[in-house]
Amino acid sequence: MRQDLRQRLLSTNQGRIISRWEKLSPHEQSLVEQQLEAIDLEFLANLFDKRNSSFTLPDVEKIAPVPVLQPATNFAEAKREGLSSLAKGEVGILMVAGGQGSRLGTTQPKGTWPITPITQKSLFQLHSEKVLTLSKKANRDIPFMIMTSPATHDQTVAFFNSQAFFGLKKEQVIFFTQGTMPAVDLNTGEILFEEPAKVFASPDGHGGTLTALKKTGLLEQLKSQGIRHLFFFQVDNPLVQIADPVFIGHHISHRSQLSSKVILKDSPTDKLGNFIQVDGRCQIIEYSDLPMELATRKKHDGSLFIDTGNPAIHLFDVDFLDLVCSNAAALPFHLARKKVPHLDANLSKVVPEKENAWKFERFIFDIFPNAERWLLVSTKRDEEFAPLKNAQGDDSPETAKYAQSKLFIQWLEKAGVKIPAYSTTPEIEICPSFAMDAEELSRKLPSNFQAKFPLLLQD
Ligand code: UTP
Repeated sequence: MRQDLRQRLLSTNQGRIISRWEKLSPHEQSLVEQQLEAIDLEFLANLFDKRNSSFTLPDVEKIAPVPVLQPATNFAEAKREGLSSLAKGEVGILMVAGGQGSRLGTTQPKGTWPITPITQKSLFQLHSEKVLTLSKKANRDIPFMIMTSPATHDQTVAFFNSQAFFGLKKEQVIFFTQGTMPAVDLNTGEILFEEPAKVFASPDGHGGTLTALKKTGLLEQLKSQGIRHLFFFQVDNPLVQIADPVFIGHHISHRSQLSSKVILKDSPTDKLGNFIQVDGRCQIIEYSDLPMELATRKKHDGSLFIDTGNPAIHLFDVDFLDLVCSNAAALPFHLARKKVPHLDANLSKVVPEKENAWKFERFIFDIFPNAERWLLVSTKRDEEFAPLKNAQGDDSPETAKYAQSKLFIQWLEKAGVKIPAYSTTPEIEICPSFAMDAEELSRKLPSNFQAKFPLLLQD
């Protein structure tokens, strides 16, 4: 092993890797050396040393609730402005799809999961159809950027290819890959190996978007194409209103650098990120970092002091991203305890029954305090947030499908359709090509429309 690498391993408490390395073939040794050279071992050791103090709560006295704009304010004007920006080609769409979906327990990227109530379209197809419909409305091919990770990239690209990009133009869809971080042993901080010559590396969090945008040159490309606003969402939310023109319009008219949609928390311990304001800047505290005293604190009117949750739907100005991307390496890493199967010192497989490792992730929302001008726009959970996280129970395929049918019932009712009485929620699917919202549905349906279930509306 090269002397300098050996020295660095010894001085960062990774010495046991050396004896493991000595058991490998020359080819494997060279592979391991390459991977270790690419890791900032000193930085990793520092993260591990500070594992119990990685989050600092802002001074509680300074924490204030955030102001929230109701989307109905200047609705028509905002919509006009948003549509005009889309038509001028100023908006790009970015979906993060690099996560490993470990809670869902899938070996395929989460985006391939069948999610619509009747036709069982995948998340990738559903989102692509929304982008396609919006592109037709804007009369231009809105760029659709998809962030993958080494864990999801090949399968994601193959899935899009096998389905002919769901009708989108191939050039319109831009895949780019985020970075990774090694996982380390929970107690010793030693780097874990998944194969004799392969470090266990996992995606570096959705905050990895920033370094990846910069490193791949995509940010420069966006700027040169005249894209000014980037709509950001997560692959696992089938209800997201992609590049909602009203949201874009409000963002533009407020000259905001970063805007987010927000939903009301349904309890103090709701498992959502919490928006707060500190010294006039906006930031998010994870639910697990919010002290109970603060989570349960009430305002005079009895409502929660911190009641604004994060459904991970954002709009970034490209100039703002450019500003923060140059400093993206300064974003903190968050540590999470995870179960990581790996090889022990004798290269035997260990499948842990409880958490045995730390994984390190950056979060996109850690850039929020950098924004001088920011805007939060209210939306409703049942209209825009039904994440797919678990195989069963909360946030599962079942709840995500149910949420879609429930929303479509609301749209039908707003369109004046009488819904027959039901005991279990009927299956309803309204394809994006048929209608993207209640208003559009109302325009499309004949006045004598009779709903019969299961109901599939598609063009
Ligand atoms: P989550 O962490 O909630 O889900 O990511 P996950 O990673 O898909 O699944 P688990 O945690 O392993 O069960 C929320 C969103 O952020 C993306 C995911 O793809 C998902 O859309 N993400 C997460 C990334 O793109 N990269 C990451 O490194 C982490």
